[in-house]
Amino acid sequence: MENFEFYNPTRIIFGKEAEKKIGKILEKDDVERVLFVYGKSSIKETGLYDRIVKALKKEGIEFIEHGGVKPNPVLSHTREGIEKAKKHKVDAILAVGGGSVIDEGKTIAVGTKTDKDVWDFFKRNKEIKKALPIYVILTLAATGSEMNGFAVITNEETQEKLSISSEHIFPRVSILNPELTFTVSAKYQAYAAVDAIAHVIEHYFSGSYCPNLQNRFVEGLIKTVMETTEIILKEQKNYNARAEFMWAATLALNGLAKLGIKGGSFPNHMIAHSLGAIYDLPHGACLSIVIPAWMKWYQEKNLIQFERFAKEIFGVNTATEGVFQLKEWFRKIGAPVSLKEAGISIGEIDRIVDNAYNIAKVWQMEKDYTKEVLTEIIKNAND
Ligand code: NZQ
Ligand code: ZN
Repeated sequence: MENFEFYNPTRIIFGKEAEKKIGKILEKDDVERVLFVYGKSSIKETGLYDRIVKALKKEGIEFIEHGGVKPNPVLSHTREGIEKAKKHKVDAILAVGGGSVIDEGKTIAVGTKTDKDVWDFFKRNKEIKKALPIYVILTLAATGSEMNGFAVITNEETQEKLSISSEHIFPRVSILNPELTFTVSAKYQAYAAVDAIAHVIEHYFSGSYCPNLQNRFVEGLIKTVMETTEIILKEQKNYNARAEFMWAATLALNGLAKLGIKGGSFPNHMIAHSLGAIYDLPHGACLSIVIPAWMKWYQEKNLIQFERFAKEIFGVNTATEGVFQLKEWFRKIGAPVSLKEAGISIGEIDRIVDNAYNIAKVWQMEKDYTKEVLTEIIKNAND
């Protein structure tokens, strides 16, 4: 096993009606005024908005609203949030939603504590030294943002989708009530499943050594994600399936899955982010296109691990068959598995390669992911 450090300061409050506790939690932490960050419409449609407002008012917590966060959150709207947070001198961020809302909330938390342009942190030109405390009520389980120190934002002017990583943006508390995910659509459940699987397989495949404990942890998460997703797609309100899926998605990117693995990186996410930046496709849909294409290109480089995956997850014998089965499963749950299915012409390949190469440079992966390599992978995604 490789040496590692592990730190995760997020308190998780999991279970039915857990969101009712939000007022008390903030009051106990001496928070008097929050920036209440949420998405387009779902929290108002489900009645969650009203319940939160009630819980905040009960404890006398003031709130400034910052709604309208879009999926694949953008820099301009994030900057508006930073201005509001500064103007009203909020003590904390309360983010209620999925990964997009949480990530915009985290970025506002960073931007509020600096006079510099927040985008500099995404370009990795500056280290994050502080941020406002972040509190989360999760309504869509997928990204793991509720228990990690990452945030992803798109600069819509430059079409760059980049991330920040800092221990200052781990949420202080995240409330996970599986019932709040009952209304997540079948389409977004499929994207969420792809995303959770993607988070655990990046290091599992791209690392050069993976301890057995980690292999089993990753495979257990993948099996859970697949089984629960199949149940959820048939029974939208199955509490146990929603609950196990929710916790599996959180565990998939809270730092545990990659511990002790030698090397490894996030190549599928790198390429997926370029599709997200250019075409504004949902994150999970970008991944379901990229993963089979990347696997086809990569499988020979780590054949033993791909054979293990094929056997453990699908009970088949060859790496190629394992990759095929995963692609078929993505297709079965309703996620696109090719550029064509997402309506993207292969004639766009240079544009995608240039965008992905730009991210590779920011992530210092350009030595392995040259434009030639990226072209080869993206060509695999055509059908
Ligand atoms: O905007 P509203 O109306 O709330 O609707 C949202 C949105 O349209 C809807 N939704 C959320 N909760 C719902 C619901 N609909 C019905 N019932 C509910 N309970 O779902 C749609 C998608 O929401 P979004 O937050 O965009 O989805 P997700 O959680 O998949 O987040 C995706 C974003 O997170 C980033 C992605 O790149 C993308 O920008 N990621 C963040 C990561 C992180 N911070 O660690 C890691 C990931 O790899 C990923 O990159
Ligand atoms: Zn992801």
